[in-house]
Amino acid sequence: MIDFRREIGARIAGTALIGEAGLGLEDVLELMEVPADAAMGDYAFPCFRLAKALRKAPPAIAAEIAEVVGAEAVGAYVNFRLDRAAFAAEVIGAVAEQGGRYGHSAVGGGKTVIVEYSSPNIAKPFHIGHIRSTVIGAAIARILAALGYEVERINHLGDYGTQFGKLIVAYRRFGSREEVEEAPIATLLKYYVDFHKQAENDPSLEEEARAAFAALERGEEAERELWAWFREESLKEFTLVYDMLGISFDSYAGESFYSDKMQRVTDELGAKGLLEESEGAQIVDLDAYGLGKALIRKSDGSTLYITRDIAAAVYRKEHYDFHKNIYVVASQQDLHFRQWIKILELMGYGWAGDCIHVPFGLVRLADGAMQTRTGNVVFLLDVLNRAIEKTKEIIAEKGVLTDAPEAGGSPAAEEAAAQIGIGAVVFQELHNNRIKDYVFDWDRMLNFDGETGPYVQYSHARAASVLRKAADAGFDIAAEADNAAWEALTGEAAFALVKLIYALPEVVREAGEKCEPSLLTRHAVDIAQAFSAFYHEERILTDDPSERPFALAKLRLAMAAKQAIASSLALLGVAAPEKM
Ligand code: ARG
Repeated sequence: MIDFRREIGARIAGTALIGEAGLGLEDVLELMEVPADAAMGDYAFPCFRLAKALRKAPPAIAAEIAEVVGAEAVGAYVNFRLDRAAFAAEVIGAVAEQGGRYGHSAVGGGKTVIVEYSSPNIAKPFHIGHIRSTVIGAAIARILAALGYEVERINHLGDYGTQFGKLIVAYRRFGSREEVEEAPIATLLKYYVDFHKQAENDPSLEEEARAAFAALERGEEAERELWAWFREESLKEFTLVYDMLGISFDSYAGESFYSDKMQRVTDELGAKGLLEESEGAQIVDLDAYGLGKALIRKSDGSTLYITRDIAAAVYRKEHYDFHKNIYVVASQQDLHFRQWIKILELMGYGWAGDCIHVPFGLVRLADGAMQTRTGNVVFLLDVLNRAIEKTKEIIAEKGVLTDAPEAGGSPAAEEAAAQIGIGAVVFQELHNNRIKDYVFDWDRMLNFDGETGPYVQYSHARAASVLRKAADAGFDIAAEADNAAWEALTGEAAFALVKLIYALPEVVREAGEKCEPSLLTRHAVDIAQAFSAFYHEERILTDDPSERPFALAKLRLAMAAKQAIASSLALLGVAAPEKM
């Protein structure tokens, strides 16, 4: 597609004055602005910077350039207006040609990027806090893939550590196989909670748990078998959630995967003179960097979370030779990641700077914290099911889904409720700037008129419905493409919509670069709102044969808007229903 900014920049750069001032095309592009006031045009070139070199007042320079390129000078600015009809034709043509790939590009050049996300802990619940890593990470992975990176999706499962010692002890003391198989995560969580209750009165339990974990680390058969079984049962349940969200991974190499790769790391730390003895344990002293002391190996020989993360980074570099290695993990773990990256640096790994912690804020429910030990938790699976139920209630109450497939109960209606309900949860999650804390709010996320998933989905379905009606009325939009009268798209509503669609690829690029899916989520809302405005302002279909070329242009814009929304939703991991 034509890069309009560059085209205009080239016209400016081609003028004699720019050459005299010693500027090139890239300088001009750098200086160009999009006027805040649309009445001033679509692009503006400020001439202040040229004044000194040319020894002329900026307005005089602006007037001269405007004269040469056939634009308008206002004060020190040269203002440009796009030819709206040609602009619409170009943008709509590009969307039609690229279809589902609209918004994608090749900037990634096939470089390998690891995106690690979700990474729940086994035997601790997959709760609403984990939804953030899962949903944000999956969106970042999709966006980077769309930008032409080779993406490796890794689920760094919390499948190792002292909690497994506790679980093994709890299971042996009061567990049952049937119970675990029946509801793995809830049961293992209950064991974990009960373990802590009993350990309050009987401190020997803690000692027993440490011994069990040490046995697991040594690779004792009985402990390993239990551990493997807990892991497998839990993974089955996590997979239910991933399937509902349409999320997958290339690797489930979690903490346990590194259990045989840690000796090497501790040896290396020792050889590089980074380890210190402290009360029988081994630490890396990071006080000099204001990062405290990182515990690498406990006095009983067992390793820690950070030890496994160091081993994981080294393994990933060797195994994937990544361009970037991205960790989508809560900002609560900032200190952990700062320590970890400092240690990689001190180890002399030049690629430490390619390891990136992408943090996000907390999600809170109205009724307080979600903690593991007290059992006061909200399960993600329940959240998704609740979202679907609530959507059904709304559909039944308001009859929002007017031309939806048969009313409640049918498979199509069930599927629509799942798409809308789950989409609402995912969209709300991605709508917030990731670093901000936010409150999980059912009413807000399911508001069909708000900046929500259902609203954007509804706009998509409305565009689909217009196109269906057009087909029924005998329009063959693809075949008649050449007859479209693009002048029909020069009004404010149409122009605003075309501009937003045009900007999508740039928004996707920026969202990928900043690992910030909310940029794309908000842009999807903007497109949906602009489409609604266009739809309300313009009568699209007509019976009058003489107006048919105008209708065709508007239909093609509706088609492009629908595609731009669908592309955005696909990258976010939200379904785009044809009917609602
Ligand atoms: N399992 C951890 C948790 O739930 C998150 C793991 C993050 N990834 C990492 N490489 N440390 O808190």
